[in-house]
Amino acid sequence: MKAGVIGLGMGMAHLKGYLENGIEVAGICDTDRVLLENIQKKFGIPFATFDYRDLVGVQDIDIISVASPDYYHREQCVDGLMAGKNVLCEKPLALNLEDCIEIIKAVRKSGKKFMIGQVCRFAPGFVLTKQIIDSGEIGELFFVESEYAHDYRVAEGVGKWRKDPRRKPFIGGGCHAVDLLRWIVGDPIEVFAYSNHKCLVDWPVDDATIAIYRFENGVMGKVFCSIGCIRPYTMRSVFYGTKGTIISDNTSDHILLCSTRYFKEKSSYNFAKIPVEIAHHNVAAEIKYFIRRIENNEAVEMNETEGAKTVATCLAAVISSQENRKVDIREELFNQFVGL
Ligand SMILES: NC(=O)c1ccc[n+]([C@@H]2O[C@H](COP(=O)([O-])OP(=O)(O)OC[C@H]3O[C@@H](n4cnc5c(N)ncnc54)[C@H](O)[C@@H]3O)[C@@H](O)[C@H]2O)c1
Repeated sequence: MKAGVIGLGMGMAHLKGYLENGIEVAGICDTDRVLLENIQKKFGIPFATFDYRDLVGVQDIDIISVASPDYYHREQCVDGLMAGKNVLCEKPLALNLEDCIEIIKAVRKSGKKFMIGQVCRFAPGFVLTKQIIDSGEIGELFFVESEYAHDYRVAEGVGKWRKDPRRKPFIGGGCHAVDLLRWIVGDPIEVFAYSNHKCLVDWPVDDATIAIYRFENGVMGKVFCSIGCIRPYTMRSVFYGTKGTIISDNTSDHILLCSTRYFKEKSSYNFAKIPVEIAHHNVAAEIKYFIRRIENNEAVEMNETEGAKTVATCLAAVISSQENRKVDIREELFNQFVGL
């Protein structure tokens, strides 16, 4: 198999991820001429172009990574799929439902494999958290929370593409926290959210949002997203179960676990530190997973529908905060994916 990569910011992690997995990168695309030439030279890549349509036209490329700014995901994914390529798309799948729907339709029409790069599903701390929860160690979940706290003053993106009114931070960045909760808990059914605009006053969007979700299984959830907070980046998450609690994130070398089992052993409610590797952008593992699914013709769990449902769950919170009302996620949003 050979790969092609579109967008060489986060796309560099894809390029290296393919190489680490023994996959040749046969082509790259970026609109920045200097960057493109430098990367082509440095990695000895046979084909380089400014126009993604040339890249998806290269015959012997089997997989395309779409790692361009969010606005381009739809056209690049759709054209890649229709050119017969398997596609790995960076999160978020898109910034609105129309684009999600077009990508879903293209996957179905092309019959190619598609994966959304919700990379937190490969962060060692979160993988271990899910394993412990699935094992029953902390009992039945009743409250979960996650946050995406980042200072975008230092991450505007090349050409300041993140500073665009179409990119709601709760979709663009908050999708990490929302997807994490969906992965661990399941689908939420309704949301109420508030947002404000006190940190990045020169940005065209609200920079902080808090969303309260109710899940299908009665679990309550909270997601906080800030793109203007003054602190190191974090995705601190807490999982409360009837028999224990886990605190984890994707930037620490451990997770914290407190459970009734530990209480019996130690007679106190201390948190146990469980070591984990730090790998918050574990794209190599994501690529390994995708290659296996392609090679064995197996279903991809993190598929186009999962990506679209995460976007819809985020969008529901944006609608709620803008219209000051509770949003029924299934009725107003998920229903639009039925029958595609
Ligand atoms: N998984 C994660 O944790 C994670 C982290 C960062 C970014 N992302 C996602 O990755 C994507 C890229 O973000 P980034 O941080 O790399 O941005 P970036 O601004 O650092 O890099 C984007 C690159 O794409 C190029 N580009 C712009 N328009 C293009 C086009 N039409 N065709 C080809 N190349 C184009 C730019 O020149 C730039 O080199 C976004 O969708 C973003 O949401 C994901």
